[in-house]
Amino acid sequence: MTGRKVIIAFNDDGHDTYKIDGKLVDLDNNLSTTVADIEGGLRARGMQPARLPLRDASGLREFAAVVAAARDSIIFNLCEGAFSRSALEMNVAALFELYGARFTGSGPLALGLALDKGVAKDILRSRGVPTPNYAVMDAAPQSLPSGLEFPLIVKPLREDASVGIDTNAVVSSFYELRSRVEEIIARYSQPVIVEEYIDGREFNIAVLGNGAERKALPPSEILFVDFPEGRPKICCYEAKWVEDSPFFRKTVPSCPADVPEELKSELQAIALKSYGIIGCRDYARVDMRLGEDGRIKVLEVNPNPDISSDAGFARAAKASGLEYPDLIEAIIGAAEARYASQLSRAPQPLG
Ligand SMILES: Nc1ncnc2c1ncn2[C@@H]1O[C@H](COP(=O)(O)OP(=O)(O)O)[C@@H](O)[C@H]1O
Ligand SMILES: [Mg+2]
Repeated sequence: MTGRKVIIAFNDDGHDTYKIDGKLVDLDNNLSTTVADIEGGLRARGMQPARLPLRDASGLREFAAVVAAARDSIIFNLCEGAFSRSALEMNVAALFELYGARFTGSGPLALGLALDKGVAKDILRSRGVPTPNYAVMDAAPQSLPSGLEFPLIVKPLREDASVGIDTNAVVSSFYELRSRVEEIIARYSQPVIVEEYIDGREFNIAVLGNGAERKALPPSEILFVDFPEGRPKICCYEAKWVEDSPFFRKTVPSCPADVPEELKSELQAIALKSYGIIGCRDYARVDMRLGEDGRIKVLEVNPNPDISSDAGFARAAKASGLEYPDLIEAIIGAAEARYASQLSRAPQPLG
């Protein structure tokens, strides 16, 4: 694989800012650190990285021109949307396919399915994957849908990275539910998913590879350490992105998770099954919770998870003996093997 040219496609939307204690802070939530990490990993394995930023719509023609000319390269796709809109994540992968470019990670269908938490859960549930009871709403409800019991969590239907999830996301009364549903619909201009709140341990499983080669990495657990009294134990937006927030310091990832062998196997089996059902490729992460009834429930499938060197995926890879450059090489290797085999349904390069 040495000498292979790899084009890293990523969103270059600048930093977000966030107000905490009346202070505006810059968030380290853009993709530039991930890009630098991946470049380092590629160089360590003798590959040649190039950058392909996706900025605003005016740069689209230029972006497409590089994709169209990418015949001898493979695109490492980090795009989580386009023009600051998550809903366009699948369109970027679709553009790669139209040009016959080879790219890492999931195709447009899996990306689109996973982004709609309601559709993804409909499919998972119909195929026997346990997931918390839920209802999708595009207005405040007149009554509590059957099958739902408080406490409930309200999430925007089509977001990621805990956007729209703060400690008020968990509601315990019909009055709170109605007002939260109205607030989130208005704020994010999209429906919400209302889900049973699972008050239990949170795990995620990183999955790597395709077909018979795919494997689940060791489980990771998010530990809620000295969490503020009376607050729901959730990975809210501040816990993920705002380093100055108490929630950030009190949600501590631990990998490999301290779990009995039986639970580990069950987490891994459910993750592999979910990965297959959504049609993920090369790598993905499945988020889960352990209910009080002892049953695992899938919260969501992430076909485009954070793979920076300090994120959970890299930690799980390390726990399985893969150093960071090994992980990056494994992702590219999985994509290349897929294109070389019958598994690929992508169109062949034109001409
Ligand atoms: N049904 C639920 N029960 C308990 N916690 C939840 C539930 N749904 C989400 N959460 C919490 O919110 C976090 C983000 O939710 P998730 O569905 O994974 O959306 P995102 O795409 O924003 O990561 C989870 O990591 C978890 O801590
Ligand atoms: Mg998640």
